[in-house]
Amino acid sequence: MAKKKGSEAVNELEAVDLISLLSMPENADSYEIELSVPEQDIDLAALGAEQLKEEQLAKSKTVVPAISSPSHPSHSPLSSSLPISASPSPITPTKIVSQPRVVSSKPVNLLSPIQGFENDSFDQIRKDISLCQLCGLCKTRKNVVPGVGNEQAKLVLIGEAPGADEDIQGIPFVGKAGKHLDKIIAAAGFKKEDLYICNILKCRPPNNRDPNLAEMKVCTPYLQRQLALIKPKLIGCLGNISAHYVISPSIPGITRIRGQWFDSIFGIPAFAMYHPSYLIRSESREKGSPNWQMWQDIRALKAKYDSI
Ligand code: URA
Repeated sequence: MAKKKGSEAVNELEAVDLISLLSMPENADSYEIELSVPEQDIDLAALGAEQLKEEQLAKSKTVVPAISSPSHPSHSPLSSSLPISASPSPITPTKIVSQPRVVSSKPVNLLSPIQGFENDSFDQIRKDISLCQLCGLCKTRKNVVPGVGNEQAKLVLIGEAPGADEDIQGIPFVGKAGKHLDKIIAAAGFKKEDLYICNILKCRPPNNRDPNLAEMKVCTPYLQRQLALIKPKLIGCLGNISAHYVISPSIPGITRIRGQWFDSIFGIPAFAMYHPSYLIRSESREKGSPNWQMWQDIRALKAKYDSI
């Protein structure tokens, strides 16, 4: 393998690291064999760099997304019965484009201040969540799982709901999927302590079933309050459910929209990505596979994060 210098070499190592973390345990043998074929790693790094170049090009030709106020998504969490009357204005979802692109840097902060919560705090939100009985999940939860990380984060990652490990520990993304997420974000150069990580639901759905709409609706004001305090510049949606809720139910499935930026119901640009659990289940590491796509996406997200 040709020796590489500086960041190029680092990128190459990161590519190797990400590929290894996304390997299925059953594939340990083939993984060893593939690692001995360096060209594949070089390709990944080069392809990642190519995408970053495209991103930068796209940035210089920034397209302004549609932000208007006609039809509010029928599922909108912001019409929740909780006392949040300063609901953000609805926005229409950004038109889907075939290439990843950035959204306008136009300042849109529809979250602050939220009426009735002008003196809000993370302690208060945690307390409110721990007392919450707005849906049936309060009967089966072991612990509430409000969120973790930097309360001034530029980027908030939002998953769908806690699983069994999260329910036990009261911290999001600490199970198998979470460990993969940790490695993915580290491989892309993020420091976990700089990010805030949470879910739409703050309690675990039994048997890890998907969150239902009613649960998401009553739980969203907590997320809304968290975002209002954090004031992030960017949101990363982890998985189909998060993307469809945070962006719009009318967008196509995650396999078609991943790697793209959208307006979100919170007025903060949101980036669609695969859920780490999906990546754990996916065996392929070939170009075009979900694991490969995630590597492109997380690096594109990091490039955008670094640019603001
Ligand atoms: N999956 C999620 O969406 N969130 C978690 O916290 C854990 C697994």
